[in-house]
Amino acid sequence: MPPASLIWGEAENTMCGLVKRYGYQEIRTPVLEPSQLFNRSVGESTDIVEKEMYAFEDQGGQHLAMRPEGTASTVRALLNQNILNGAPEQRLWYLGPMFRRERAQKGRYRQFYQLGVEAFGFMGPDIEVEQILLARDFWRALGLEKVIRLEVNTLGDKEARARHREALVAYFKEHHGELDEDSVRRLDRNPLRILDSKNPAMQDMIEAAPKLIDYLDDACQTHFDTFLAHLDALGISYRVNKRLVRGLDYYTRTVFEWTTESLGAQGTVCAGGHYDGLVESWGGPKVPGCGFALGIDRLVLLLEEVAKHEPKSPVDVYWVLQDERAQQRAWEWSSKLRAACPGVTSIVDCGLGKFKQQFKRADRSGATLALILGEEEYEQNKVSCKDLREGTPQETLGFEELLGLIKQRFEGSLT
Ligand code: HAM
Repeated sequence: MPPASLIWGEAENTMCGLVKRYGYQEIRTPVLEPSQLFNRSVGESTDIVEKEMYAFEDQGGQHLAMRPEGTASTVRALLNQNILNGAPEQRLWYLGPMFRRERAQKGRYRQFYQLGVEAFGFMGPDIEVEQILLARDFWRALGLEKVIRLEVNTLGDKEARARHREALVAYFKEHHGELDEDSVRRLDRNPLRILDSKNPAMQDMIEAAPKLIDYLDDACQTHFDTFLAHLDALGISYRVNKRLVRGLDYYTRTVFEWTTESLGAQGTVCAGGHYDGLVESWGGPKVPGCGFALGIDRLVLLLEEVAKHEPKSPVDVYWVLQDERAQQRAWEWSSKLRAACPGVTSIVDCGLGKFKQQFKRADRSGATLALILGEEEYEQNKVSCKDLREGTPQETLGFEELLGLIKQRFEGSLT
């Protein structure tokens, strides 16, 4: 609802403008997908698939799910259209609702909105750097740079993960008595997920568990070091968090999260990483992917509560009119005004009636200027301009003069 929707719109426009300037193109995927797409991509034993997905059987017996995220759908769409064989390098973005049956609380909703980017065809750490810069530019553009910080980690490749998994299973078996029910179930199927547990009783034991970063081979280590060296050279501060494992199974090598301390428990605003094997696992070519998704609900909370962001007034000028003849002229002039000054919003009064009533409506709309077409103005082909917010004297002008004044007055919004 307005006025919150104004902040949503401003944030989305700023961010979509930026992704486009980084050369990413929009993709729109359906809300409903085969459940299997997420079961296999996100991972059977993840919280998302095990507990949170809205999955159901439709009247035709098909198993469908409301998308809990956008990466798997993007890969499916590219493979359906056979795009990656001809053009393995792709930079794509999406914005839309995602669905997870989580326990709702501030910053955590069952329908939430993500802006995501996914790039394909780049194996090296440079694409990761590009996407970190892109996110950093979001925070800068929205005035949130000081409250969001970056955490990074590497999950290595298949071999490193296999070695780490073996060590983890051995370690957790040693500490079997300390594992909760969920973790015991995960021990054989997906021990890495145990590291994700929020159970306070297990935190010390988890803290001391073997870290993947200690099982990397030279190639993965060099990849991660190069990534960090680029961040250093660009002056981007970060923290290496060896416990950062992410809640989805498809990641390999670098993963990252942008977090804030200003939102309580739901502090992750944006998260992602490299996923080298997902395309291939669905029968596609050997094309790596790398991306992130940003939670718009959380971002808007930060804008409202921390940055105290005030949305721009939704209305700039409001036409106050003597009669239907004046209204007719106002409709024509207002259209010309919108075309000449694309960032300016203009409302022509509907309902007419006494000037007093129209001025009330003008004031309630939030408009800065009232443009008045009374008897005299109409006859002289002019308009009177009254500032509703400051006490400056009223001026009477011709239409061309009015355009000049409005351009000058609303200079910042003429885009
Ligand atoms: P994710 O970490 O599951 O990753 O979600 C990304 C972001 O979505 C979170 O950091 C958070 O801001 C927001 N989010 C997640 N769940 C909720 C919720 N219930 N309510 C509000 N906001 C939420 C992914 O979804 C991956 N697909 C990201 C990615 C893209 N990795 C590679 N490419």
